[in-house]
Amino acid sequence: MATPLRAVAFDAYGTLFDVHSVAALAEQRFPGQGARLSNLWRSKQLEYTWLRTLSGRYAPFDAVTRDALRFSARALGLALGGDDEERLMAQYASLSAFPENVAALRALRELGVPLAILSNGTAAMLEISARSAGMRDLFDRILSADSVRRYKTHPDVYALATEAFACEPAAIVFVSSNGWDVAAGAWFGFDAFRVDRSGAPPEELDAGPVATGHSLADVVEHVRARLEREKDIAQARGLAPARNGKRRRSSSATGASK
Ligand code: LAC
Repeated sequence: MATPLRAVAFDAYGTLFDVHSVAALAEQRFPGQGARLSNLWRSKQLEYTWLRTLSGRYAPFDAVTRDALRFSARALGLALGGDDEERLMAQYASLSAFPENVAALRALRELGVPLAILSNGTAAMLEISARSAGMRDLFDRILSADSVRRYKTHPDVYALATEAFACEPAAIVFVSSNGWDVAAGAWFGFDAFRVDRSGAPPEELDAGPVATGHSLADVVEHVRARLEREKDIAQARGLAPARNGKRRRSSSATGASK
């Protein structure tokens, strides 16, 4: 790989945070309908982000999420009261994180790679979720689509990462469990990595080959292998000292502010 790794950027919802953890709460309130509500809520939420971006009608992700919840409850014939709505929205604000996350993120930091969240969520939503999952200190940057008032898959959103780390797309490993997000990240030029948590097939979007694993632990191996390849190339060119187990980095390589 010609471009040295600069950072790893993670999608948030579905990748770091389990969006279907709201299904349990929905199930308590609407027995037998929790999974249906949670699935429809998520797909409507995404549909609204795409429609709003295509039509230039931006609204922040928390508002879009609330609209999608109201629509989904109505579509399923569920009597969603004001209290139910607040409780489900509050649950969305502190979603469960996937269990392997913290250890995998720590391992990536030990490899000396800056980490970022790159998400449709507002900065406030992402800050709260990362804090409540005990992960906030592991990220150098939280990059929100809200700052460009467009949603994925608009390239302006992915460009937040290349701007934040002042690099080319190929210098960033982009990790998502959402197949469409991985495909769009690959189109943008990222080294895209799909975390296959659901067993869904890869999208048919001509995005080229993307690396795939089943958890964030597989991302650590992908990054480790890439760093090893880069080190071998540098050594072959006589640019790096003999292996000492640590990657050489200039101080500016981690220069992104918190
Ligand atoms: C996000 C959605 C797409 O975090 O999962 O951007």
